[in-house]
Amino acid sequence: LDAVEAAVAAFARGEPVLIHDAADREGETDIVYPAHAVDADAVRRMREDAGGLVCVALSDRVADAWDLPFVQETIDHPAAADHELAYDERSSFSLTVNHRDTFTGITDDDRALTVSRLGEAARAPAGIDFASEFRAPGHVHLLRAAPDLLGDRQGHTELAVALAAAADLPPAAVVCEMLDGETGGARTPADARAYAEREGLVYVEGADLLARLA
Ligand code: 5RP
Ligand code: CA
Ligand code: ZN
Repeated sequence: LDAVEAAVAAFARGEPVLIHDAADREGETDIVYPAHAVDADAVRRMREDAGGLVCVALSDRVADAWDLPFVQETIDHPAAADHELAYDERSSFSLTVNHRDTFTGITDDDRALTVSRLGEAARAPAGIDFASEFRAPGHVHLLRAAPDLLGDRQGHTELAVALAAAADLPPAAVVCEMLDGETGGARTPADARAYAEREGLVYVEGADLLARLA
């Protein structure tokens, strides 16, 4: 198996995959799981070994079914007026949410419940009354993928949703940046690759996913 085939196979089994976007974009490696497969141990791994923001990327179709906006477009505040980013044209941030059965929303159990229920709900989004299951604001960031997915944007948001589609899974994937525990900067690709080898996980380059899944 090459890295893309291995990534699709691992994802289909509910295992995490490490995705480096590109040296000329964020230059970050996110650990990515199919949302439905996330349990408290997975949240612990994201918190302890990755350390970034725990976000759930959803396809445009799912986000539309649930009426989830880009947060920048909904906030009437000067901080949201000018959205210039150094690495892309726009961010994919939507609402933050908690499942209504959580308590505070931040514990490993609570975030696992929110993330996994988002993954289940994304199987048949039209049948879900989103607001009766989830509340906003919460402790899990939602990300909204571009309509034409990798054709429009090549962020971790789109790479993760494309990987879910390739693995025949609902279009909901949790992503979390892997930071260096010493420096606090992004883990280098070499370091992320070494982590993947130690842990028996797949590491894949965004460029390889783009070449095969776009
Ligand atoms: C949320 C982020 C991450 O970079 C995440 O990977 C999604 O963003 P993008 O699609 O721009 O890569 O900012 O923590
Ligand atoms: Ca980012
Ligand atoms: Zn990213």
